Amino acid sequence: MTIPLVGTGVAVPVGFAEEVAACTACALHATRTTPVVGAGTGTAKVLILGEAPGADEDRTGLPFVGRSGRLLRQLMLDELGLEGNALTISNLVRCRPPGNATPTTQQRRACWPFMAEQIAYLQPAVIITVGNTATQQILATTAGITTLRGVTYEAHGAVVIPTYHPAAALRGGAVVLEALRSDLRLARPYLGGVAA
Ligand code: URA
Repeated sequence: MTIPLVGTGVAVPVGFAEEVAACTACALHATRTTPVVGAGTGTAKVLILGEAPGADEDRTGLPFVGRSGRLLRQLMLDELGLEGNALTISNLVRCRPPGNATPTTQQRRACWPFMAEQIAYLQPAVIITVGNTATQQILATTAGITTLRGVTYEAHGAVVIPTYHPAAALRGGAVVLEALRSDLRLARPYLGGVAA
């Protein structure tokens, strides 16, 4: 099966990408190659939120284009019928942490205004947070993803659906993968007829 390409349009206000590129609010700007603003023009009002760009994203400037990203986008297509530009994909932190380290609290705080601006602009009906970092920031909690996943929340004017990071499904096998699929299906009632 062909895995669809990530959308290359992006739903952000005018000047947003330039602001991200010029940001020096944390040390990550000094080591990254390309800031990753996000992707997708947002017609489906579903925002997928990851942690931070990895090596492939840093090289291309697009979110979730590496192995775990391809899995995530295939699952979004399988479970919700969403692909390409319909889906908005972004990361809590826009610049790659060296060695794919988990972004520090200071780095997450420094980057948060961009996320807040993107959410206010897109007004997503559903935010799907993948992994601990994005989930904990969006739900303002320190609880872990295994505890939080499997149900929906409300925050930032959206239904929030926390689930495992696709990298965990690549490592964790069938059980994690099935949990991820079933979490994504929780979004179906909120898609407003856009898909699935
Ligand atoms: N992991 C993430 O959290 N985001 C990406 O864009 C790629 C991998």
